[in-house]
Amino acid sequence: MKMRAAVLEQFGAPLSVQEVELAKPRAGEVLVRLAACGVCHTDLYTASGADPSGYAPTVLGHEGAGVVERVGPDVTLLAPGDHVVTLFSPQCGECVHCLDPRTNLCLAIREQQNQGFLPDGSTRISRDGEPIRHFMGCSTFAEYTVMPEIALAKVSPEAPFEHACLFACGLSTGLGAAINTAAVQPGATCVVFGAGMVGLGAVAGCRLQGAERIACVDLSPERLELARGQGATDLLLAGANTLEEILEMTGGFGADFTFEATGNVAVMRQAVEAARMGWGLCTVAGVAGKGETLDVVPRFLITGRRIAGSSFGGVKGREGVPVLIERYLAGEIDLAPFVSHRIGLEEVNRGFELMEAKDGIRSVIEFA
Ligand SMILES: NC(=O)c1ccc[n+]([C@@H]2O[C@H](COP(=O)([O-])OP(=O)(O)OC[C@H]3O[C@@H](n4cnc5c(N)ncnc54)[C@H](O)[C@@H]3O)[C@@H](O)[C@H]2O)c1
Ligand SMILES: [Zn+2]
Ligand SMILES: [Zn+2]
Repeated sequence: MKMRAAVLEQFGAPLSVQEVELAKPRAGEVLVRLAACGVCHTDLYTASGADPSGYAPTVLGHEGAGVVERVGPDVTLLAPGDHVVTLFSPQCGECVHCLDPRTNLCLAIREQQNQGFLPDGSTRISRDGEPIRHFMGCSTFAEYTVMPEIALAKVSPEAPFEHACLFACGLSTGLGAAINTAAVQPGATCVVFGAGMVGLGAVAGCRLQGAERIACVDLSPERLELARGQGATDLLLAGANTLEEILEMTGGFGADFTFEATGNVAVMRQAVEAARMGWGLCTVAGVAGKGETLDVVPRFLITGRRIAGSSFGGVKGREGVPVLIERYLAGEIDLAPFVSHRIGLEEVNRGFELMEAKDGIRSVIEFA
């Protein structure tokens, strides 16, 4: 079938929205009609050419929500009409990691996905017979996509698509960092560095876990106000004295739980040092630049602090995303402030511009 899609032709150039060919789903695959898709830094990172593992041509986009249009042979998990959220982090349910509660890093299709192929090593997207690669296994800057059934979460049809798509990436990452990775305890003191989608999700996750005090640190007063809306009790404008302010706020000890959601390794170090002696846990969610390292004075660890990393918030996608969406539907999370702009697919490059200008948290592409 023919569809419109935003193709990355060349690194550093705007995406080109055009007609491409999409083949029908093969065994274990599903055709999804996209209804909404968030525009994320990771799309821009690849489009810019900064990502060393990037490739082109490819259809970008990985924060999709939509409806199953048809299923390929042997599909058992989904049926036409199901509402789904795309998962760049799949859940096969069978690999050694899927069977272990300690991790969500499914091993099933990583290698092919990282190279831009579906699990059988080919692409469904093409143009004039030339293959176009898939991005993060999703390629959701398009009217339709074909994805493995293990990379789609079936979610409540009651969730509006423009909110459901937020759970495909940063929001679940932040919520999950607090709920799964850190497992914040009721009454705890928490500090979240960064108030983008991930950091705001972490603030909300700390609140849902019953934290008593939630400080949020950011460079932007507007974003700190959004953090207040998600449950932050203390707002700190990032500066030279941030660490001192946190220590002062916590009787000189530091916080029970700290979260890093900026991608800046200097902030990661602050997040380690802001964790409490004895049992403070620092959870790193930000993605650092290639080759950057985290500098930690070992004494901070010997005196009882721990560091954990979190990918997609430790959420096993097919099971976990529907649960988070139920909590949202129950009124536990307010997502309206996250959707700052609604744009059409043709305006995808404007979504990138808005992001670079730090205008709002998410631009969401709506498909007619
Ligand atoms: N682990 C995962 O699975 C996963 C998933 C999605 C995103 N990420 C990563 O998480 C990070 C955050 O993503 P996002 O979408 O929220 O990004 P974002 O750019 O919207 O938010 C980052 C925030 O950090 C703030 N910031 C920058 N420097 C700071 C400093 N010195 N002190 C305090 N705050 C500072 C910025 O003002 C901004 O509000 C990125 O590195 C992203 O790549 C990780
Ligand atoms: Zn994303
Ligand atoms: Zn698996």
